[in-house]
Amino acid sequence: MQVISAIDELRRTVGAWHKADLSVGFVPTMGNLHRGHLALLKEAAHHCERLVASIFVNPLQFDEECDLQSYPRTLEADMVQLESIGVDVLFTPTEASLYPHGREALTRVDVAGLGDILEGAARPGHFVGVTTVVTKLFNCVQPDLAVFGEKDFQQLLLVRRLVADLNMPIKLLGLATVREADGLAMSSRNQRLSTAERKIAPLLYRELQAIKDALLHEKHDYAALEQAAVERLLRLGFVPEYVAIRDADTLLAINNNTENRVILAAARLGDTRLIDNLRV
Ligand code: PAJ
Repeated sequence: MQVISAIDELRRTVGAWHKADLSVGFVPTMGNLHRGHLALLKEAAHHCERLVASIFVNPLQFDEECDLQSYPRTLEADMVQLESIGVDVLFTPTEASLYPHGREALTRVDVAGLGDILEGAARPGHFVGVTTVVTKLFNCVQPDLAVFGEKDFQQLLLVRRLVADLNMPIKLLGLATVREADGLAMSSRNQRLSTAERKIAPLLYRELQAIKDALLHEKHDYAALEQAAVERLLRLGFVPEYVAIRDADTLLAINNNTENRVILAAARLGDTRLIDNLRV
């Protein structure tokens, strides 16, 4: 595996692949890799002849400086995992190369509307940081295909919209959330949970499953289902930020045209913020 930090070197390497008519798959990450990330890379490898992963802890998408500082950075261990699944290039840009004029003086990519609700409302500025860096990473790597996780359901929809709206010639794949045996969605943040919190954490997914069951039993009072879940989560020790049953294609309220539904939730458990979702 080649580790490349310089954008021009990356372009030369990928450019040579394109010239040789080799298809290029890409999975952007912030590192601290777990089985969820690896599943995305394996899926990309399945569809492409060359595979690029990136690790960049993007300061632009963190709304709290302490969250950015404490984000786990485990490059050595990550490299071992990437090597083991046959990644050709690990792209590790520096902050100075991606943001040469600083974090403020920057052209930003804003997916209006979709980026302002749910996670966007809870974390102002977060999604502009995500869509800006994803655009930059796509322009650096120039992949044919990119794979994202459904774990970050709203992020996946935003990137789909971004690629369509900016006419990027990139095929996108979304992959189902990889979970621990007890149902907890895998996440770098799970390491921050205390032993007691770790036991409670899977109950967030359990709540989503309970709502899904209710929906499948033709219960349609969405507001009541959401409110009941919030109250149960509070009793379990979570501080819920939202539980929302939405149209899975637009993330807007369910209406007569809704074909697919998704339940999304964000809740704090101690100092850790957990998100999860479940399609109906
Ligand atoms: P990160 O949190 O490192 O996630 C990288 C990719 O892995 C995302 O597409 C995310 O949805 C996916 N992922 C995380 N946990 C997963 C799980 N349990 N199962 C399946 N996929 C999972 O998301 C980001 O980084 C950043 O916002 C990024 C897109 C890299 C832009 O900075």
